[in-house]
Amino acid sequence: MDSRKIGVFDSGLGGLTVVREMKRLLPKESLVYFGDTARLPYGSKSKEAIVRFSKQIMRFLMRHDVKAVIIACGTASANALEELRATFDLPIFGVVEPGVREAARSTRSGRIGITGTEATIRSGAYERLLKQINPALQVFSQACPLFVPLVEEGWFEDPVTRSVIHRYLQELKKQTVDTLVLGCTHYPLLRKLVQEEMGEEVTLVNPSSSAVQEVKAFLECHAMQTEDREGQYTFFASDNTEKFQAFGQQVLEMPLTVQKIQIETF
Ligand code: DGL
Repeated sequence: MDSRKIGVFDSGLGGLTVVREMKRLLPKESLVYFGDTARLPYGSKSKEAIVRFSKQIMRFLMRHDVKAVIIACGTASANALEELRATFDLPIFGVVEPGVREAARSTRSGRIGITGTEATIRSGAYERLLKQINPALQVFSQACPLFVPLVEEGWFEDPVTRSVIHRYLQELKKQTVDTLVLGCTHYPLLRKLVQEEMGEEVTLVNPSSSAVQEVKAFLECHAMQTEDREGQYTFFASDNTEKFQAFGQQVLEMPLTVQKIQIETF
């Protein structure tokens, strides 16, 4: 048993979809969350910048004596996971590998669509890992850079969002994918409209949920769960803490406080 916290980070608010799953599946685990709101979006940054930012965040989280870290960001998972695992000596989970495993399990036709930020799609991580599992899978990828600002604006069901979703996803629809991966942790907040656009017959994979299920299995297997009664959540952001607080309370349906930190000093 291990009652230390789990570290969770994202470029901003999207990682709260991972926290929401932790609240549901790992309610006893405490966590320390960092959202890099001063440097968001990561999706338009280079791999070198994403790795550098992610290492700073890891050094910050390590100060909190965390037992494991979840990279609750598709972009950082796709671009920095290997470098972080090579640098830091603790279990580090990304969202890409669990999302890949679930998509491969879910598809029947072998035609899988991937959505994500520009940096995630550019990395080719989803396609590479899916083909490792089954080289016959056909993978169709689409970067959706406008989804993140729409989510950050809270426009989860707005007509503008609907039309942007239609514009980005029409090509994947034409490819008749039967499984679509929401490959950025912001995107599950657009799930309803994406499902309406793709049709009920398309299975949506939420890697935030897949990742937490795998973390749960790992903690149980390694006897690393906590015995505490209820998890304590601590939130940090590098800017705009008021917006983070309001958005976080809406997504997590609980009161929260957010502390501002200077991440560049780590
Ligand atoms: N939440 C991040 C992800 O999962 C994307 C947001 C960003 O571009 O910073 O990829």
